[in-house]
Amino acid sequence: MTEGLLTAAYIIASILFILSLRGLSHQESARKGNIYGMSGMLIAIAATIFGSQSAGLESVLAAMIIGGIIGGVVAMRVEMTGMPQLVAILHSFVGLAAVLVGYANYLDPNAALHFSGVEKTIHDIEIYLGVLIGAVTFTGSLIAFGKLQGVIGSNPLLLPARHWLNLGLGVAVLWIGTEFVNAETVSAGVMLLAVMTLIALAFGVHMVMAIGGADMPVVVSMLNSYSGWAAAATGFMLSNDLLIITGALVGSSGAILSYIMSRAMNRSFISVIAGGFGTTSAQGSTVQIHGESTSITAEETAELLKYAKNVIIVPGYGMAVAQAQHPVAEITKKLRANGANVRFGIHPVAGRLPGHMNVLLAEARVPYDIVLEMDEINADFSDTDVVLVIGANDTVNPSAQDDPASPIAGMPVLEVWKATNVIVMKRSMASGYAGVANPLFFKENTSMLFGDAKTGVDTILGKL
Ligand code: TAP
Repeated sequence: MTEGLLTAAYIIASILFILSLRGLSHQESARKGNIYGMSGMLIAIAATIFGSQSAGLESVLAAMIIGGIIGGVVAMRVEMTGMPQLVAILHSFVGLAAVLVGYANYLDPNAALHFSGVEKTIHDIEIYLGVLIGAVTFTGSLIAFGKLQGVIGSNPLLLPARHWLNLGLGVAVLWIGTEFVNAETVSAGVMLLAVMTLIALAFGVHMVMAIGGADMPVVVSMLNSYSGWAAAATGFMLSNDLLIITGALVGSSGAILSYIMSRAMNRSFISVIAGGFGTTSAQGSTVQIHGESTSITAEETAELLKYAKNVIIVPGYGMAVAQAQHPVAEITKKLRANGANVRFGIHPVAGRLPGHMNVLLAEARVPYDIVLEMDEINADFSDTDVVLVIGANDTVNPSAQDDPASPIAGMPVLEVWKATNVIVMKRSMASGYAGVANPLFFKENTSMLFGDAKTGVDTILGKL
């Protein structure tokens, strides 16, 4: 492949990636966005493999076939509810790749032929930053995987003086960096690089271990951003323009998403980056929940719904687990045909993925115009006859507003308790992802419909 053709391929792939991001920002155009992204990636891979570097083509192809088969099988098998863990582990691979490429670049015996003087200094800085970001991304993503998979507890690990510890690590990394750039020999440089790598690996663990409860979504999108910057750093090391552009797109879009999510969660963006956020007092709720919960049957729920004029459905992680979105869409159709005003209230972190509920509802063909964001619908609960909470818990927990000592204190929630009747569908009284008890279940206007969400929704549908 000629240089000109390679450049053209890279430009086309970059444009397709930008179009993909644009497409993915709206539900209507998301499918097209995915197609743009996949086409861009196909062109990028083909151009890289058959581009200027033809040496080692066989091993690259063999690695791609093995990796492709593993990736394909994993992607086919993964449940929608397991996607966040998969994304987290994939981020860790990007981080590890950046670390390995950094070491390979530094130890490359031909490097001295290519770089000298200022160019060598710049190349060393690229390697140092690439390894640093890669190592933080690697361990941070592994810990995020463990937390999302339930292997590691979701409670935050708050070491005493953790911010001083972070500051100390930051200063050490800066100092080692200057020594690394001025290192006289490769062996001295590698030693310094190894010490910094250990610090960065430890920082990645500490940063994500310090985050708990309902704050994980921000961390996942932040690690997404870090993986983009790690890829961009790898691009600099390999002098690959497309990798730089792609990495920067992932890095900046991930950073924007983290910012949007921090705002949605009422958290400070800077403290997310520093690791461990929320107030130090927010270790556990002090509020005692008194009273008893009231149960309701699916038949009684159907009766209530039949006579309701205004209905809001609030889905959460439990709807995704039960895969109840299709009968939910059917119920919506029936109630609307009956003249009721039915809408959906979506919390920004409902489920386990950004946009998780929107994807499920779109799959079940629920019209977009009745699916509203939290800010758009929160004022309407007081005029609502029935709210159907399907497998949501943390996102409808009033203690976020009422209990300053709650681990989720300050997080905006859907104010479902303001409606005339609230039906909560879940299997037990268990708490949600953040592990916080929910006073909503004990309110006078709340009734619990126990059981699997799909079974419950199917029965309601049958009775309508
Ligand atoms: P959660 O607070 O996670 O609660 C889900 C509830 O669904 C559980 O209490 C569970 O209660 C119920 N459930 C589980 N399986 C069910 C089934 N088959 N049928 C009926 N109910 C079932 O849900 P949420 O309100 O969507 O909040 C999401 C939480 O996840 C937040 O804390 C958020 O911060 C966190 N998180 C979100 C993301 C993103 S990006 N969205 C990423 C990571 C973490 P039972 O066991 O009693 O049934």
